[in-house]
Amino acid sequence: MDQTMERAGNFLPRVDDSSASPNSVDRRVVTLTAPASAAAEQYRSLYYRLERMRELRPMKVIALTSAMPGEGKTVTSVNLALAAARANPERRILLVDADLRRGGVAGTLGMRNKGGLAELLAGECEVRDVVRRFSSTRLAVISAGTTPEEPTQVLASARMKQFLKGVRDGFDEVYVDLPPTLPFADAGILGHQADGLLMVIRANVTPTKAVNQAVEQLGGAPLLGCVLNGAEATSTPYLKNYVKR
Ligand SMILES: Nc1ncnc2c1ncn2[C@@H]1O[C@H](COP(=O)(O)OP(=O)(O)OP(=O)(O)O)[C@@H](O)[C@H]1O
Ligand SMILES: [Mg+2]
Repeated sequence: MDQTMERAGNFLPRVDDSSASPNSVDRRVVTLTAPASAAAEQYRSLYYRLERMRELRPMKVIALTSAMPGEGKTVTSVNLALAAARANPERRILLVDADLRRGGVAGTLGMRNKGGLAELLAGECEVRDVVRRFSSTRLAVISAGTTPEEPTQVLASARMKQFLKGVRDGFDEVYVDLPPTLPFADAGILGHQADGLLMVIRANVTPTKAVNQAVEQLGGAPLLGCVLNGAEATSTPYLKNYVKR
């Protein structure tokens, strides 16, 4: 990892949840369910790092990917977008689920995944039809919608470019949850259209080789840094004293 990557990186502690239900917010959305926790603090810390980077270079569209599936992109995107909406209530914040294969944003937030990005890109509706405000927060959300037959082709389309151009005009900050990098071309395509890209890495799970391969595959995309997700908070020296066992 180069220096820029270290600068944007963060450690996100593992959060246990045994009470998830399909119609409620996942407990791992700690910025909402446990705002005073050490985990929530790490998402805020990640957000403020991005803010500092924005002072040097304006960045509206921040995309999140990982090397492999299941590393925590969705949980991280949702928490980061909520941290943004809370930190700057005057800004217009949008979270887009661009994982058309396994969209998880709606489920994580306890929202219905009906009428989302897929329908928009199919030309079936307009942006205003698919943007929904999440609960009582100021966060605007576009869910993934129904998986199309050829997700990569849909994401690589001129309509997607047009959509990103439109949301750049309509929002101050846009967070995009992408599919994993190694199995599909999607993240490579959309990563280049973002102003900044974050790589989520599952602590103690993702092999270094996979991360390096993913970084190589994203060659040329504006990689800002990596986020180590699911780290044991008790083994993270600076968090140890703050974590309730
Ligand atoms: N910090 C965390 N602590 C504990 N569990 C987590 C954490 N982050 C994510 N998880 C859990 O790991 C699983 C995968 O997380 P998530 O859906 O965010 O990953 P993803 O990278 O978006 O996966 P996919 O590639 O399928 O889209 C989920 O069950 C999620 O609740
Ligand atoms: Mg996901």
